[in-house]
Amino acid sequence: MSNIKVLDKEFEPYISEQEIQIKITELAKQLNQEYAGKKPIFLSILNGSFLFTADLFRQITIEAEVCFIKLASYKGTTSSGNVITAIGLDANVSGRDIIILEDIIDTGKTLHHFLPQLESNQPSSIKIAVLLNKKEALAYPIKVDYACFDIPNKFVVGYGLDYDGLGRNTKEIYQLK
Ligand code: IMP
Ligand code: MG
Repeated sequence: MSNIKVLDKEFEPYISEQEIQIKITELAKQLNQEYAGKKPIFLSILNGSFLFTADLFRQITIEAEVCFIKLASYKGTTSSGNVITAIGLDANVSGRDIIILEDIIDTGKTLHHFLPQLESNQPSSIKIAVLLNKKEALAYPIKVDYACFDIPNKFVVGYGLDYDGLGRNTKEIYQLK
């Protein structure tokens, strides 16, 4: 594996395709056991999570649904000053077991503002599964239930993650040099 250039920045190899796939297979096995008979809904947050979702979901062998949503934030008049709307949340999540799929949790801000909206639809449970968990960057009270990798607070691209829209289309993950 060699360095890649995305726009003005250089990135070096960080997590290999094989390491990613091993962790995803482990996570799929765990979810297949824990959610057997529950018919969970995998709620994938676009755009970054599409490759993670595809590779995980094809290894889910229990009865399950998948739904892709986009979170759009705009300045609202709530006390937090942030309103997050989910575009494409067409599944009826009421009474269902939800597993949110995110490429990366950084500050946790996005999910922190989205969770109340999801909870208002009264799912039976909500868990969060992420490919990458930037533990040190977490600034909101978000509980990550499943993380394939804990990573330091460094900017990464590849395998769905972008820098200014580019760099998503690699099988490996790269970190800023
Ligand atoms: P949060 O709301 O701060 O947790 O930010 C989460 C979102 O920020 C992710 O879904 C990504 O889209 C983006 N993000 C955070 N860190 C990185 C990174 O290192 N590379 C690419 N995107 C990132
Ligand atoms: Mg994302």
